[in-house]
Amino acid sequence: MGKDVIVACDFAGKKEVFDFLDKFTDVKPFVKIGMELFYAEGPEIVREIKKRGHKIFLDLKLHDIPNTVKKSMAVLSRLDVDMTNLHASGTVAMMEAALEGLTRPDGTRPILIAVTQLTSTSEEKMKDDLLINEPIDKVVMHYAGNAKKAGLDGVVCSPLEAEKVHNTCGKDFITVTPGVRFADGDKGDQVRVMTPADAKAIGSDYIVVGRPITAAEDPVAAYKRCVDEFVG
Ligand code: C5P
Repeated sequence: MGKDVIVACDFAGKKEVFDFLDKFTDVKPFVKIGMELFYAEGPEIVREIKKRGHKIFLDLKLHDIPNTVKKSMAVLSRLDVDMTNLHASGTVAMMEAALEGLTRPDGTRPILIAVTQLTSTSEEKMKDDLLINEPIDKVVMHYAGNAKKAGLDGVVCSPLEAEKVHNTCGKDFITVTPGVRFADGDKGDQVRVMTPADAKAIGSDYIVVGRPITAAEDPVAAYKRCVDEFVG
């Protein structure tokens, strides 16, 4: 599995994201495009960033009936993204349909990963709002197992869960982990954080890093530091 740093491009629009990407002249980071930018600029932003030579993780977290997800995934696949995702809580049937939709006529497809439980969901909220009475760790591992059963490539999880996911679902099951901060950096609103070096040590396959790079005085230097620590 090729380890890589994915830069979360959480910008409001095209101008902001291109101002940021223009700073990278000798490297083309793997970038994550989320709902905000995608809904603001539409699919054209994906094509334009792809044309500049970046790999793209399109983070739209699909969750709907299997048929709708299947057809939507086919559209995303034609956009030539490298990685995309959905909610594991949409059921195994929805995840299987997603894979089918994502697979191109030549058999290739983007990497497909599942969100288990959002890190904003606490055990208390699961119990009170969703009537899920199991411990959150057990739910996360069960959902990861469902994603594997459906044939997905991996999950988004906290770096603190990556080791357990690998132990449960196998070493080749991809873990994509946000919540990364430099040892001397600001945590911002992330609570459970890990440094790029620690994320490497516990076996994360990809780290998703936003503000430590996008808000840095020198984003290119911050990106390179991240790559040095994580990929080595
Ligand atoms: O700026 P920061 O490094 O905190 O950005 C992390 C990125 O990862 C954001 O795009 C955020 O939405 C995403 N993310 C996260 N925690 C999750 C899932 C996604 O922080 N559990």
